Amino acid sequence: MPGVSAPRLVVLPGDGIGPEIVAATRLLLEALGEFEFDERLVGGISIDEHGVALTEEVLDACRAADAVLLGAVGGPKWDTTDPAAPRPEQGLLGLRKGMGLYANLRPVRPSPALVGASPLREERIAGTDLLVVRELTGGIYFGDSGRDGDTAHDNCEYSAAEIERIARTAFEAARRRADGHGDAPRVTSVDKANVLETSRLWREVVTRVAAEYADVELDHLLVDNAAMQLVSRPADFDVIVTENLFGDILSDESAMLTGSLGMLPSASLGADGAPGLFEPVHGSAPDIAGRGIANPLATFLSAAMMLRHGLDRPDDAVRIEQAVDAVLDRGLRTPDLASGGEAAVGTEEMTETVLAELGA
Ligand code: NAD
Ligand code: IPM
Ligand code: MN
Repeated sequence: MPGVSAPRLVVLPGDGIGPEIVAATRLLLEALGEFEFDERLVGGISIDEHGVALTEEVLDACRAADAVLLGAVGGPKWDTTDPAAPRPEQGLLGLRKGMGLYANLRPVRPSPALVGASPLREERIAGTDLLVVRELTGGIYFGDSGRDGDTAHDNCEYSAAEIERIARTAFEAARRRADGHGDAPRVTSVDKANVLETSRLWREVVTRVAAEYADVELDHLLVDNAAMQLVSRPADFDVIVTENLFGDILSDESAMLTGSLGMLPSASLGADGAPGLFEPVHGSAPDIAGRGIANPLATFLSAAMMLRHGLDRPDDAVRIEQAVDAVLDRGLRTPDLASGGEAAVGTEEMTETVLAELGA
């Protein structure tokens, strides 16, 4: 378009299946319009090249981009229990902290065509449409940690300010989701307030913020109970807000409502106007890396989240989401989705079919 410059995207393929699913997603974006791609190293591949999982240059490039698209990091090559050795996951945590990405949105909306692909019975999943809002730059992931002889520690700390801003993200998201539906917006805050002091502060602050959102219903669940309720009555949830570690675990659990971890996208957002990071919820899947069978759909749907939340192009986001639904409707399945023994296709055929659906 004359006069409108192409969005500048930093692309971080990472490790394992990361490069496979990100290459496929680039094709999809190229079919939608013009983008400037700046491909960089993060994770294990950056350790091999530079000795660290994230260099200052790459972090700076991400901060200066319009948005960042990431595949996955990690793998057995770099797995170690040596506290002094660099780890690929430090790259991802460094990006989240360094870009101020405190809010991680993980929508769980099983495609109607996939209800049979989930290990849960169809009648349990029917109507499920929930959003996990995971706090992403605090808690046990970022507290002081270390070893002292035979002892190790990982401290969990939260400030009221950190809890307040993620609570606002959740209440605002619940309101937006309810727009035009008629159902009252609902937030379920998940904690472990019966044991943890950070959780008691969490509950207190979330309850205080809720007073400003009188139209949004709030309830609280303890995390062990929440893990159970998520599989017994998933359709009853709307927005789930929770701290970093609980959100990590509950979102992988929720992924199985969609049939596969290979379906779940995410958006990590910070301050208004700052670039976001968009990546699938799953990891580098070393068990299937290099075989051309990775499911690229979570990354396609993450690109859709990037277009909606990061680039203000909601129409293009909807085009991707509809194309994904359409190919699933027609029965196309990568092996992770073919739980009923259906014939499966590889990453390339899945990508080509989505591209064709987009009219590309
Ligand atoms: P994983 O998510 O990589 O894989 C779990 C299982 O799901 C595997 O059986 C895998 O084959 C399958 N799977 C995941 N994504 C898939 C896809 N797109 N298509 C088909 N099948 C898929 O979790 P893991 O095995 O516990 O971790 C492997 C590595 O990934 C570790 O080093 C971990 O730290 C890292 N990891 C990275 C991220 C990230 O970069 N955001 C997230 C989670 C784990
Ligand atoms: C995720 C991953 C990361 C996390 C790891 C790789 C650090 O599991 O994005 O869910 O725990 O946040
Ligand atoms: Mn995870």
